[in-house]
Amino acid sequence: MQQSFDKRPPRAIRSYVIRAGRITSAQQRALGEHWARYGVDYQPRELDLPLLFGRVAPCTLEIGFGNGEHLLERALAQPAQDFLGVEVHRPGIGHLLLAAAKAGVTNLRVIDHDAVDVLQQQLGPDSLDEVQLLFPDPWPKKRHHKRRIVQPGFVALLASRLRAGGRVHFATDWEPYAEDMLLVLNGCSLLANCADGGGFLGIDAVEARSATRFQRRGERLGHRVRELLFRRR
Ligand SMILES: C[S@@+](CC[C@H](N)C(=O)[O-])C[C@H]1O[C@@H](n2cnc3c(N)ncnc32)[C@H](O)[C@@H]1O
Repeated sequence: MQQSFDKRPPRAIRSYVIRAGRITSAQQRALGEHWARYGVDYQPRELDLPLLFGRVAPCTLEIGFGNGEHLLERALAQPAQDFLGVEVHRPGIGHLLLAAAKAGVTNLRVIDHDAVDVLQQQLGPDSLDEVQLLFPDPWPKKRHHKRRIVQPGFVALLASRLRAGGRVHFATDWEPYAEDMLLVLNGCSLLANCADGGGFLGIDAVEARSATRFQRRGERLGHRVRELLFRRR
């Protein structure tokens, strides 16, 4: 029987478009060789984080890690903590797996899937200590704003995955998106703003972490970087 068009469920609006970007042969090989060590297959079922990492430790989630430079650097610098990265861009995932294997890091795992599904299905309530979202796609055109990942429902979902006292750290170099993020985060009753005056973090906090690839690109274009830090109540 033919499906009636008006009864089809609406297509979910995604915050990304998968582009058939160029993947190097080394990145492709890394996906095959190192997935068993670092990769976590997406399944609509809650992950057992202590089982996944083989220990009980604080866990940071980085959403949309790009080429994973920043995530790997943190995993190496903070060996007492576990790091979970979620990305949909396969060349970036391959890049990270290659570098992770070379560094021999043990406290890092990677999921190749939409972070919204991962938060909904794979991460239980109160399971994370920190969520980082650095330079998410700004979708600058008004008609594309609905694609921005930072929306009230997304923020409420990720806040529910944090333990009490857990951190939410966002950064962007797109001023209108920064203003929007601030409104959305300040509007989430589960979160409290750590910045003085309830605004953005000061420049000292920006300098405290290494720049990501998209941050460097934004800075070359003369964009101001905005950082937001909140804590789960
Ligand atoms: C503008 S790039 C920033 C990459 C990196 N954080 C940086 O600062 O260099 C945004 C990244 O988020 C990823 N992304 C967007 N929406 C996502 C989602 N729903 N789940 C997982 N990754 C997503 C994209 O594939 C892209 O690599």
